[in-house]
Amino acid sequence: MTEAIDRVGELAGEGLRALSGAKTESDLLEVKGRYFGKKGAVSAILSGISSLSVEERKRVGGAANEARTRLEAAFEARLAEIREKDRIAREGAETVDVTLPGRALDAGHRHPISRTMADIVSIFGRLGFSVRGGPEIEKDYYNFEALNIPKDHPARDMQDTFYMDWPEGDLVLRTHTSPIQIRTMEGMRPPVRVIAPGTVYRCDSDITHSPMFHQVEGFAVDTDVTMSDLKGLLTEFCRMMFGKDLPLRFRPSYFPFTEPSAEVDIRCVICGGSGCRVCGNSGWLEILGSGMIDPAVFGFVGYDPERYTGFAFGMGVERIAMLRHGVNDIRLFFENDIRFLSQF
Ligand code: DAH
Repeated sequence: MTEAIDRVGELAGEGLRALSGAKTESDLLEVKGRYFGKKGAVSAILSGISSLSVEERKRVGGAANEARTRLEAAFEARLAEIREKDRIAREGAETVDVTLPGRALDAGHRHPISRTMADIVSIFGRLGFSVRGGPEIEKDYYNFEALNIPKDHPARDMQDTFYMDWPEGDLVLRTHTSPIQIRTMEGMRPPVRVIAPGTVYRCDSDITHSPMFHQVEGFAVDTDVTMSDLKGLLTEFCRMMFGKDLPLRFRPSYFPFTEPSAEVDIRCVICGGSGCRVCGNSGWLEILGSGMIDPAVFGFVGYDPERYTGFAFGMGVERIAMLRHGVNDIRLFFENDIRFLSQF
């Protein structure tokens, strides 16, 4: 029996040493399992005392229980120490070094097309024009009919688009921003001076045409608007847009909604007029279509053509952006390659 009590004392001493030498939680658990867990050495002694007398059982059992209590207390104390050490080590590793350089966020910026469009609108804003918009899914009536382009008119060929059947009649993806002329004039009496930017669509795709592109429409109607007003306005616009005085050329043309009509060319901004690839050696670049609003259009909106005259023009934003930045393929604007876009 004294043997058993001595053995308990030895086990307690070994267990306590092993606990204080444990470095990690799993070391601790291992020591517990070996000495005072359910299947540990102390339990083994307790289960072997059934053969002893009641008196002996009490003494050996008491010693074993006391040893287990001490071991458990030592276990808890060491566990707390190890956890505290781990916590300090972890916090040390997680410390923020405030002297490190920050992680820079790349600042985004506006797309060159959006910027060009905003610049065009802002220039005309300074010249006294107010901004109007219209729907991209447009009624056939506004996109064609009221602009003096009846069904089966050959002018529709140049503006082939995406048609939709709809219960209320034909709808199209608008092919130009000119329908905003009609929508504006329907709800407004002259004097009218409006600039109308927007996205437009056509069945067209090559290095100078994209099926989706942008236009800015401008128009003015009053009692005595003339073509020289148009010329003066556009000359001033080009000076503000390209930052220099550029000669303009009005070339007779045809649009169903203007009469007379003209396409406007500027002196080539790339070669200055001596001839290059961009201007096809002509020294001139076409930038927009324009003209005096056809009296037939006034008929659709209830303006008296005897009383009012007006001019209108429409320019392609991509074209202006290409000239401004020397870009030779329109598709680059829509590929969203950050290496291209970050140059602007
Ligand atoms: N809407 C025409 C087009 O997309 C451009 C245009 C030409 C607009 C003459 C006008 C204009 O306002 O007067 O081809």
